[in-house]
Amino acid sequence: MKNNNMVLPSLKDARMRRNLNIEFVKYKLEDKYSNVGKGKTYYIYTYGCQGNEADSEIMAGILEGVGYTKAKDPLESDLVLLNTCAVRENAEQRIWGVLGQLKGRKREHPEMLIGICGCMPQEEKATNKIINSYEFVDIIFGTHNRHNLPKLIYEAYETNKKVVEVISNEGMILEGAPKVRESTYKAWVTIMYGCDEFCTYCIVPYTRGKERSRKKEEIINEVKELVSKGYKEITLLGQNVNAYGKDLDDGSYTFGDLLYDLDKTGIERIGYTSPHPRDMDLKAMEAHRDCKSVLKHVHFPVQSGNDRVLKIMNRKYTREEYLAKIRKLHELVPDISITTDIIVGFPGETYEEFKDTVTLCDEAGFEGAFTFIYSPREGTPAARMEDPISLEEKHKWFDELVEHTNQGYLNGHMKFIGKVVSVLVDGESKSGDGMMCGYSEHYKLTHFKSDDKSLVGKIVKVKIKEAKTWFMIGDLVNE
Ligand code: SAH
Ligand code: SF4
Ligand code: F3S
Repeated sequence: MKNNNMVLPSLKDARMRRNLNIEFVKYKLEDKYSNVGKGKTYYIYTYGCQGNEADSEIMAGILEGVGYTKAKDPLESDLVLLNTCAVRENAEQRIWGVLGQLKGRKREHPEMLIGICGCMPQEEKATNKIINSYEFVDIIFGTHNRHNLPKLIYEAYETNKKVVEVISNEGMILEGAPKVRESTYKAWVTIMYGCDEFCTYCIVPYTRGKERSRKKEEIINEVKELVSKGYKEITLLGQNVNAYGKDLDDGSYTFGDLLYDLDKTGIERIGYTSPHPRDMDLKAMEAHRDCKSVLKHVHFPVQSGNDRVLKIMNRKYTREEYLAKIRKLHELVPDISITTDIIVGFPGETYEEFKDTVTLCDEAGFEGAFTFIYSPREGTPAARMEDPISLEEKHKWFDELVEHTNQGYLNGHMKFIGKVVSVLVDGESKSGDGMMCGYSEHYKLTHFKSDDKSLVGKIVKVKIKEAKTWFMIGDLVNE
């Protein structure tokens, strides 16, 4: 939608799936914009999922490519970008809070550019609110045009007017953009963009566009390059990673095939997030058994343990089908760790139906869960459903569930007592008492005594002696 030089979002357009061929765009910087950040500094605030973190690394790469350097203090920088998330109301609340803080800063330093990008601007309501109530924001753009950032900055400087460019289409695939990765030993690798699942509560298919896969050659080359630079771990990203490849060629090359091929690149660890339970096939599950590098952990979002609720959520599997996949995973890899996402208080959910989710947690043996109270998202079908249960009541259910999921975390840690695990070291523990920490191959946060900073980015062996709810503690084992 175009309005006074502003390209505004449309949820109606974002919902369309036209089955057009997806465009593969090679990043190209026009000469005109190549010095737009010379001598200037930038800072990116990143909210939301790993997809946003990966996008921020691309935007940092693009900004440094036009002369910007990263600011130490966000409030002192020439350009501040907020890469936002729209998945729940509280994610948006945080952004309004940060904008409130930036307002005063902008008054003192009017030359500072403030940009908002990511998923929030893809929503009509949010973009209108930014335009009308946060007039000091200079640039608004969405998830489909982050590669236009140099042009948008240039226009903001040239015109001294607000630049709004939010595209609501199915999206394209950007290749070849520079990246500034946060870590030197673990890396995000996006394998597919968008989502076509349209779970009835979820805004993501509207903010991220159609499901589209990167070509396998691009992914494999990216991982080989990471290996040659000494990276130890990759996390494959996508809203429904097991839909990988369905839109490419004849659709016969699957996510499972990709796992087997990436295992051969020599990368030491492969994780991924998130698979959709309906699309989790045998080959992807077998990769956990057969491929040394594939972590012994699956984040497997279930959302609900009740068949009626799963149906109105449009999840397209039943409790029993979900549990059958869990059993299969355990049959292939007996000690595999499974974590999940759960929504409490979906519109019309009864207490009895909620209890099915609680019993499912125990039956599935989840070793961790991200639990959320349902948050209505404008434009999604669930937001129009009757929702008679009060928020207060939902909070009670939530607390009841969390007792079970916390026990799951603890059980998951206890099973390693006395065992030796491999830990990719991240750095000093936050507690600051001479401990260091990292994640094990079952993706368990593990602390051990050491002050040897040279271990960061290395994989060490740790013998576990203690289990807590949120982490395990052990001693370094000398090999
Ligand atoms: N694509 C991923 C999840 C992306 S969103 C998947 O399907 O696994 C991450 C989680 O946020 C979801 O799994 C869901 O549990 C939660 N979520 C999404 N929309 C929500 C909403 N409207 N209210 C509450 N939680 C929501
Ligand atoms: Fe949202 Fe469902 Fe897609 Fe996940 S699979 S991003 S929950 S619509
Ligand atoms: Fe949030 Fe967008 Fe990710 S809504 S969870 S940042 S896809």
